[in-house]
Amino acid sequence: MKPEEIEKLEIELLLEAVFRRYGYDFRNYSYPSIRRRVWHRIAAEAVTGIAALQEKVIRDPACMNRLFYDFSINVTEMFRDPLFFLSMRENVIPLLRTYPFIRIWVAGCSTGEEAFSLAILLEEEGLLSRSRIYATDMNARVLQQAAEGRISLKTMKDDTDNYRKAGGKRALSDYYTVKSNEAVFHSPLKECLVFAQHNLVTDKSFNEFHLILCRNVLIYFNRTLQEHVHDLFYKSLSPFGFLGLGNKESIRFTKHAQQYKDVDVQEKIYRKIT
Ligand SMILES: C[S@@+](CC[C@H](N)C(=O)[O-])C[C@H]1O[C@@H](n2cnc3c(N)ncnc32)[C@H](O)[C@@H]1O
Repeated sequence: MKPEEIEKLEIELLLEAVFRRYGYDFRNYSYPSIRRRVWHRIAAEAVTGIAALQEKVIRDPACMNRLFYDFSINVTEMFRDPLFFLSMRENVIPLLRTYPFIRIWVAGCSTGEEAFSLAILLEEEGLLSRSRIYATDMNARVLQQAAEGRISLKTMKDDTDNYRKAGGKRALSDYYTVKSNEAVFHSPLKECLVFAQHNLVTDKSFNEFHLILCRNVLIYFNRTLQEHVHDLFYKSLSPFGFLGLGNKESIRFTKHAQQYKDVDVQEKIYRKIT
């Protein structure tokens, strides 16, 4: 066996051990990304290699927690990829407007910026009071921060630029109050949001939605797991429901491709048609 094949085998054994000891299933995450994070954890724990990390993780739940947070990549921002939100405003909102009540699922919501961005957009379009956004993530720590509705002021300049490019109609600052270097979102936005723990690998569907956003999550999964999650989304979408993905993700080349039509190819917005 070549050294890189042995390394891959050791990583597979580590992921199998994690699954059997703790029930966290990272076995079908994208290998290059998992590999980078494993080596980062090996350095941080000052252990000699993959087998030593495996031994430590099995015996020490705190080490498992740290590895879990390495695998859960939480990078996010308000109105990330603003043209996606502009397209939602122009191409999806007019159709959602015809529904008496709108159920939305933001899967892999991290610290909540994406869900709050969507809530702001719905508020500006007069739809917030009849919408419910279920925002989920596998990581309890980021969900707690999301539920508090706080974001750092450090990124506010970029967030405000994004908001403008996304077609924002007011000032972003209309939606929050500043408290000790943080922006705290106003209650009406929070009231339509439900934050809950949900793992896309191991948990089932929990409702039927008119819109599902799952952006910048599937890029961390291999093809098998992407198909599994697309099955879950297909089952969870109402007839003619909308699906929004990240800019490096696509429904094309999955077995559900023919069951959606493009709403905006560039911004990765699709509509279920069969
Ligand atoms: C890079 S963030 C994307 C956040 C947001 N959707 C965005 O586009 O800015 C990826 C998120 O997916 C979550 N995630 C990864 N694997 C998951 C899984 N199996 N189930 C649910 N969430 C998962 C991570 O915890 C992380 O918060």
